[in-house]
Amino acid sequence: MTQSPPWHPDAALSQSSYSAAELARTNDRVYLLEQRDLPVSEKYHVYTSAKGVADAIKTMVVRGAPAIGISAAYGMVLAALEALSLDAAGYLHAMGNAGNVLNAARPTAVNLAWAVSKCLRLAEEHAHSPGADRWQAMADLARQIHIDDVAACRTMGRIGGEYFPDTGTILTHCNAGALATGGYGTALGVIRGAIELGKNIRVLADETRPYLQGARLTAWELHKDGIHVEVLADNMAGFYMARGEISAVVVGADRIAKNGDVANKIGTYSVACLARMHNIPFYVAAPWSTVDLNTPDGSKIPIEERSRDEVAKVGGAVLIPDGVGARHPAFDVTPAALITKIFTERGAFDPAEIASGAAA
Ligand code: MRU
Repeated sequence: MTQSPPWHPDAALSQSSYSAAELARTNDRVYLLEQRDLPVSEKYHVYTSAKGVADAIKTMVVRGAPAIGISAAYGMVLAALEALSLDAAGYLHAMGNAGNVLNAARPTAVNLAWAVSKCLRLAEEHAHSPGADRWQAMADLARQIHIDDVAACRTMGRIGGEYFPDTGTILTHCNAGALATGGYGTALGVIRGAIELGKNIRVLADETRPYLQGARLTAWELHKDGIHVEVLADNMAGFYMARGEISAVVVGADRIAKNGDVANKIGTYSVACLARMHNIPFYVAAPWSTVDLNTPDGSKIPIEERSRDEVAKVGGAVLIPDGVGARHPAFDVTPAALITKIFTERGAFDPAEIASGAAA
């Protein structure tokens, strides 16, 4: 594990001093920021196998829909290296296996399967090339996925930022920031975009039990950027909405179904209901790689169930008596009807326009 970013500060594709995932220039190592230790320490793990990257995704070293898609693509680069000396059939077999292992790591965020399927298509095209060429082509594709994601975040940030008031307080849930993407962020990208437009924006971050992505990660990255942020326990949003202190809500997404229903971190649906009750706009920001036109509506989105312990313990402290169960769906679905706009790099859509946005 390394303490500081193991690349030259100018070289990170995240365009930042930190990054959720980076590929070494030599294409033989993947660096992942250990997000479970934030905000206490900022350290990077080094991975040399696709299986290692898949484990890191499963165990939440790296998380956030676009970031796990990028990490999976980098994992496929390592798989191409591991298969360097195999013939075409062996290569395709090895890449297929690596894709399956990576895809199985987490089921809800469609960006993971999206990135793996792009890599597998490329593997088909290059199967008969020399091993070193296949490996280099995979690295070029994975880097392009990363570069495109950062560009998408910046574009949706500019588009979405226009919708915020000149002065206001924005509520967000979970972490849909630089840490959850290639860099810049989706929901937090819109906040950054609004600030870059000269708007005076303060942020309230739901702590986001049980994994505390809001308290640990959103607060960490916004504070690092000098953006005013305060953390709310998850049951406080309604209180501040009723007092008129929240101008808008913006969240990210793990999968957007064809009808505009959105899967995102557990608790998002409750926030959307509260926002509707108080007539507060509820925005979703996501790259087009999060849109899944093969899923007709939210009821068909697979919802990941994580372990009892993630709910029963916080920082090792036991909260729930022995022998008592706990539930842990990691995501919920916000129906399209509760969503004011979906910001993507293709524009700002009414949820019902998502299907037609495919042609944009
Ligand atoms: O379980 P996580 O931390 O991977 O969940 C992350 C979220 O729900 C994010 O809001 C979503 O992935 C969008 S990230 C830009």
